[in-house]
Amino acid sequence: MNNKKFLKKLKNIIPIHIIPKFQYETDLLKWNKKQEKIFSKKIIQKNKNIKIKKNFKKSGIKKLYINCSFKNYHIEHDGHKKVLSLTKDYAKNFNNHISNFIFLGRPGTGKNHLATAIGNYLISKGKKVFITTISNLMLKIKSTFNNQDKKNTEEKFINYLSKIDLLIFDEIGIQTQSKYEKIIINQIIDRRYSSKKSTGMLSNLNFYEIKTILGERIIDRMKFGNSLCLNFNWNSYRNKNQIKL
Ligand SMILES: Nc1ncnc2c1ncn2[C@@H]1O[C@H](COP(=O)(O)OP(=O)(O)OP(=O)(O)O)[C@@H](O)[C@H]1O
Ligand SMILES: [Mg+2]
Repeated sequence: MNNKKFLKKLKNIIPIHIIPKFQYETDLLKWNKKQEKIFSKKIIQKNKNIKIKKNFKKSGIKKLYINCSFKNYHIEHDGHKKVLSLTKDYAKNFNNHISNFIFLGRPGTGKNHLATAIGNYLISKGKKVFITTISNLMLKIKSTFNNQDKKNTEEKFINYLSKIDLLIFDEIGIQTQSKYEKIIINQIIDRRYSSKKSTGMLSNLNFYEIKTILGERIIDRMKFGNSLCLNFNWNSYRNKNQIKL
């Protein structure tokens, strides 16, 4: 039934004392269009939220860091202030050009906190983020070796990693540093570099040590674009409120 017929029928059946919301067909049409827009906006937002939830589940962000954000990174000195401001800018300006980061420093200085804050921010904007230690990554790759079904092959996993918007390697330096490990890291960084994807690295080592472990090829690629290398050279936040024994 078209709108005109509908309004006519409505006028005939509603009691005389009730004034219909729409007197004219054009008003009803306008209202219908507005409702359609509201409905499709709601569907788009719902789909976005589903995608964000899915990306978060796959991100590898550990329970301890789920709530890490820029807001709950406390500033106690200029060092904190500087890294907070630079990481915030990094996240806000992140787009589809390469911008890698390397966070170096002693344990408990907030490297994971700020890397996760970047991750959480980007996931909320619809980006795919994956954070992993090299040892976990190697375990996952090795687990693909015995797959008969060709569904989860090493090649497919490396390909998948190459497409993530931001891949963060945690605990660089703790890995075994085998030849195979080096080949895999090289392959991943190389592919990500060619597909203009950004990579982050966290380590307790200094820049010279990290360069020795990973090699000049990888470090050279990490330095490309608007890359960020930050030294977290202050004391651990973990034992901030510790009772002295
Ligand atoms: N400035 C800060 N404000 C609030 N919380 C902080 C701050 N710095 C660190 N933290 C908290 O302290 C804990 C340790 O920090 P984090 O895990 O980020 O350290 P890290 O530098 O990655 O250490 P490691 O090298 O041992 O992995 C975390 O729970 C983190 O949220
Ligand atoms: Mg850490």
